[in-house]
Amino acid sequence: MEKSIRDDLLDRPRDLLKDQAALVTGASSGIGEGIAKGLAHAGGRVVVNFSSNEAAANGVVRDIRKGGGEAIAVRANVSKEDQVLAMFETMLKEYGTIDILVNNAGVQKDAKFTEMTLDQWQLVLDINLTGQFLCAREAAREFIRRGVVPDRSLAAGKIICISSVHERVPWAGHVNYAASKGGIMMMMRTIAQELAPYTIRVNSIAPGAIKTRINRMAWETPEAEAKLLELIPYRRVGEPRDISAVAVWLASDESDYVNGTTIFVDGGMSLYPAFAYGG
Ligand code: BGC
Repeated sequence: MEKSIRDDLLDRPRDLLKDQAALVTGASSGIGEGIAKGLAHAGGRVVVNFSSNEAAANGVVRDIRKGGGEAIAVRANVSKEDQVLAMFETMLKEYGTIDILVNNAGVQKDAKFTEMTLDQWQLVLDINLTGQFLCAREAAREFIRRGVVPDRSLAAGKIICISSVHERVPWAGHVNYAASKGGIMMMMRTIAQELAPYTIRVNSIAPGAIKTRINRMAWETPEAEAKLLELIPYRRVGEPRDISAVAVWLASDESDYVNGTTIFVDGGMSLYPAFAYGG
């Protein structure tokens, strides 16, 4: 069979993400920090977005540069359209374009359903869902304007949405969060369908319990951790690197035929673990 341009590109040795410009939202800590470092390690040039903790974001940038990688920190609250537009302007000025967007920024504001305020509902929907919409739209506009650059990637752009097992698993006491993640699932699938003809790939990662600040209460004492482990068949709480390894793969040409899907990275948390003992 004759070799296609695609085969030639895949055969070429190179760092997985060499010279690709990546934006990771909410990258000053936790899963976002892990992903920013993972993408930089694979050769990407990374915008470390943060909304308030500038010192932490600068620390992530410093770590990346120490490891020989390229990164800058850019402040923006992803739920504010003007701030998102300004962040993209900065990124395009600094790195010329964007090849990879990781929609990671997210918050929890937990409350019993009957006690949840409109502010708690709105804040979580604004950051977790509207924030992903705004960043994905700006990234897609640039991907379409620029098209495929064969030296960098088979795709014109890649969008990775950080969702949660709670895009599928209902979560009492967290209706705002679960609704935002369910929304991300249909936003991701819909834009994957709409953008595929432009050679743009859109996928999600659904992390389970990953050791970060957002769920510290669930793992910081031995009692809490033991209870959490009952929900995880693989009997290990995840680490940010578990997510970043999948993000690097999803951003690379290794996953070129993966589009419009959610990859659960949860040690089996979404397998209804209680059924191991009953049913
Ligand atoms: C939440 C964590 C939680 C995990 C598993 C994540 O999306 O942010 O607080 O531990 O889901 O329930």
